[in-house]
Amino acid sequence: RRVSREDIVVDKGGHRHFMLKEIMDQPQAMTAALKDRADFANGRPADVMQLERVVLIGCGTSLHAAQVGRHYIERLAGIPAEAESASEFRYRDPIIGPRTLVVSIGQSGETADTVAAMHLAREKGATLITICNAEESQAARVADGALYMHAGLEVGVASTKTFVASLTILQLLSVYLAETTRRLVDQMARGPGLIGEVLAEANLYSSLARRIGHYDNFLFLGRGANAAIASEGALKLKEISYIHAEGYPAGEMKHGPIALIDPEMCTVALAPRDDLRDKTLSNIKEVKARGGLVVAVLTKGDDEAASEVDFPLFIPQAPDLLMPLVTTVPLQLLSYYIALLRGCDVDQPRNLAKSVTVE
Ligand code: G6P
Repeated sequence: RRVSREDIVVDKGGHRHFMLKEIMDQPQAMTAALKDRADFANGRPADVMQLERVVLIGCGTSLHAAQVGRHYIERLAGIPAEAESASEFRYRDPIIGPRTLVVSIGQSGETADTVAAMHLAREKGATLITICNAEESQAARVADGALYMHAGLEVGVASTKTFVASLTILQLLSVYLAETTRRLVDQMARGPGLIGEVLAEANLYSSLARRIGHYDNFLFLGRGANAAIASEGALKLKEISYIHAEGYPAGEMKHGPIALIDPEMCTVALAPRDDLRDKTLSNIKEVKARGGLVVAVLTKGDDEAASEVDFPLFIPQAPDLLMPLVTTVPLQLLSYYIALLRGCDVDQPRNLAKSVTVE
């Protein structure tokens, strides 16, 4: 008999919801994704030198992973990369060929649009790999190779640990394609510990949720890879608490979203200490000047930035490579506790399915 999902669903590990358990499991999910893989002793493989472009595709949370992956591939491997929704990609006439590497990302490996986009890439002769959690999935069958997340079953409809696992595999892939790897591999090994430091403070998010959970509009802002994390933060909040939320690259603020700012709008800004922190801090000031409420994810010790915002959320200092994983966690916890406060069905939100196998 085939093992069904119901057979596997076990317990919540003492947590009230699978989603919280899966958020808490993220350090292990990252370790499992890295396990036995971070050995790049042979350096950059010769066939990689032939690659002209990397195209990353996915839907929902996996699209946000693709967007972060794009930053990794360009920055670490120096190969032009782009990220696109699989549902858009499949209906274009994308220009790809044998020197394009197409990377599909998906928790389930069964999302109809993603699988269709993979077939299109295959027809056009691209090299095709998939990053997925479910083994024996359609995606794994269509691809030339599969990089499994090994995150374990994810029950909550809203993806959490598989997002962190996708980012980890994308880091590994980018490092594999890069020329200098040792320093990066050492950095990656610090990931589970850094995520664990944020999780250790989960109760702070529960009290913050009580202060801001009544807002009906949220704007999430970030720059660079954190722009994709801002979109993911907005998606998490929408999915499980049914609150209107938008994710925006902070640099786009003045081209429209700033018109939304008033005391009814809660802005969540990602401004950890990195090259872009000062730029995001000026966006934060613009929001404050217009009477908006600001929650900001900041690096521990950044008192200057903290003094500009209503609610600072501190994360540990992390290398750039790991920053998107570390900034993800506060947003997941915030969404979880806000949804809990509003009495929403966290693990099975209305109108959503864990995998969307129809168009
Ligand atoms: C559904 C789920 C999302 C998920 C998306 C893509 O919409 O509710 O949480 O991100 O599908 O799923 P995949 O399995 O392709 O990652």
